[in-house]
Amino acid sequence: MTLVENNLTWHEQRISKAQRAELKNQRPFLLWLTGLSGAGKSTIANELECEMYRGGHHSYILDGDNVRQHLNGDLGFSNGDRVENIRRIAEVSKLFVDSGMIIIAAFISPFRAERELAKRLLEEGEFVEVYVKASLDICEKRDSKGLYKKARLGEIKNFTGIDSPYEEPVSPDIVIDNALNSVEDNVQIILAYLRGQGLIN
Ligand code: ADX
Repeated sequence: MTLVENNLTWHEQRISKAQRAELKNQRPFLLWLTGLSGAGKSTIANELECEMYRGGHHSYILDGDNVRQHLNGDLGFSNGDRVENIRRIAEVSKLFVDSGMIIIAAFISPFRAERELAKRLLEEGEFVEVYVKASLDICEKRDSKGLYKKARLGEIKNFTGIDSPYEEPVSPDIVIDNALNSVEDNVQIILAYLRGQGLIN
């Protein structure tokens, strides 16, 4: 037990991450999908979770649109709020990974620094960064939620790609492009990478 400055005590837990993972017969990790709104992150996340489920892996999706309606319901889309959004998700993901779960996080996560924070919070080999690449043009043409139109009309402020920045990953573990491949093919690319890393069997 360690006493820290703010009078809190860290309680060691008697069951370890390794034991929880062993019970689930899997290696816990965090797969982080980043990309513009409408790039296809949530679709990939869902298809991937179905494959995980079929393969007997215990996984869970954390998705921007959902998490922002509850846990992060107090946050908007200013730079500061996006930083806090991702900080909380990174911390929540770390807890999930500690519980032995495989986490699929789907967030625009526009800033490199916060994606790096998520990586730093985890142990070596537990973080996989996937860049769901799609040009602004494609996302805007698709505009499945009608948000790009609203952003262009000025009805939504700080919209990623319009009047709020997106910093592309410098060296993501995987780059996928839904315009080039089908969702199924992209999920297979991710699964092959995970197998190659020994994260799933
Ligand atoms: S993040 O930038 O903080 O990582 P997050 O992934 O949680 O964003 O949420 C993005 C989702 O919120 C988008 O897919 C979209 O549906 C919705 N949204 C609403 N307003 C905005 C905005 N100003 N910029 C981007 N997405 C927005």
